[in-house]
Amino acid sequence: MTLWGGRFAEPTDADLKALNDSIGFDQRMMAQDIAGSVAYAQAIAKAGIISQDEAQTIITGLQQILDEWSAGDFAFLPQDEDVHTAVERRLTELIGATAGKLHTGRSRNDQVATDFRLWVMDAIDRIDVHLLQLQTALIDVAETHTETLMPGYTHLQPAQPITAAHWLMSFFWMIGRDRQRLADGYQRTSVSPLGSGALAGTPFVVDRVWLARELGFGAVSQNSLDAVSDRDFAAELLFTLSLLGTHLSRLGEDVILYSNPQFGYITLNDRYSTGSSLMPQKRNADPMELARGKAGRLIGNLTRLLTTLKGLPSTYNKDLQEDKEAVFDSVDTIDRLLPVVIAIIRTLRLNPERMRAALGEDLLATDLADYLVRKGMPFRHAHHVVGQAVRLVAEDQVKLSELSLAALRQLSNLFEADVSNVFDFEASVSRRRAIGGTAPEAVRDQIAAARQWLQEQTR
Ligand code: ARG
Repeated sequence: MTLWGGRFAEPTDADLKALNDSIGFDQRMMAQDIAGSVAYAQAIAKAGIISQDEAQTIITGLQQILDEWSAGDFAFLPQDEDVHTAVERRLTELIGATAGKLHTGRSRNDQVATDFRLWVMDAIDRIDVHLLQLQTALIDVAETHTETLMPGYTHLQPAQPITAAHWLMSFFWMIGRDRQRLADGYQRTSVSPLGSGALAGTPFVVDRVWLARELGFGAVSQNSLDAVSDRDFAAELLFTLSLLGTHLSRLGEDVILYSNPQFGYITLNDRYSTGSSLMPQKRNADPMELARGKAGRLIGNLTRLLTTLKGLPSTYNKDLQEDKEAVFDSVDTIDRLLPVVIAIIRTLRLNPERMRAALGEDLLATDLADYLVRKGMPFRHAHHVVGQAVRLVAEDQVKLSELSLAALRQLSNLFEADVSNVFDFEASVSRRRAIGGTAPEAVRDQIAAARQWLQEQTR
């Protein structure tokens, strides 16, 4: 017997049942569903709708179901449409007709919204722990490379020398903003819809505030119509995970490039590299390619849910059942990805000699222009003069520092003997010591600020 069979003379068509059932995926909310029902039984007992004895019978039954589920002994039956009906069916088997009182004033509409929010809150907490570990790993590696120089790129063309720590720390802040978004989204997720009924609210005097607190929610929804259909929290999580995935894809791309032998800046630990079945020399950064590739999947899930929500008429519609698989898939994707990314960063070997060897003097062209600026030339003019010097260098196949003073003075008489001081990568980097710059001294301050940030972030 289904939970809503009374109205129908014929059983549901088997194909429709296969389409309609969500038990295949929403059983993942079993713990949340049971927690919600335990609290709800207490609330309706407090409201005098059932007796304390009945509440106790229901709660004991629910606890047994949770035990069965945890032990892997819970047996689903063909009529179990979703997690809510499966629990109620089993509860009826265990305690008889009293089970039928649990659903008084409650609808699967407020029930599923409650379960799903609780599930998302758990997921946010779990992902946040991983992200903290990733940030810590980034700081730890960065800290040992504040003096290591490497080329910095714009347009993927060599641009200016930077410190390797500065490169690593750039990802710390991206992940930091992802964590802020998660924490912010948590606040909007932590709002209890329980007690909204099917759409119009419950006619029984259940203490919604007590219920919310009992379940760990921070607030109670104020509009039952909104509460049963609000999936903003799910969309927000999917967006946050999409942006996180985007950040991880960018980290992945840098790691892929820099571990390419033609760069050779970093080496992935053997445990996190993969080989080729054909080419024995290959050492691939597959996990980082997956980090890059999974972003597509995460963004797809966001698009999938937003498209489902768009244009839905007021309150609950069955379309909303599509919300869960998108969220489960994105959370599973991130849950699988993060431990590997964290381990890769923790075990990453930087090769300072290779980074150093890749520093060409053309990366000091800006510094050469700045030299002229310090002598009084407007920057635009200096840019042009140094551009001419770079052209000479390219024609004569020499380095910038090998141009004679006489040749430079042909371009500008502001060049003097002290120009030779410009051709020093360390000096170039250490001049950039304003807050947020790449100088070792500024990066050490940045790392201290990052540690401070971590202290303040813990909520
Ligand atoms: N399995 C449903 C879902 O995930 C539960 C809510 C069903 N509500 C209803 N009125 N049919 O959305």
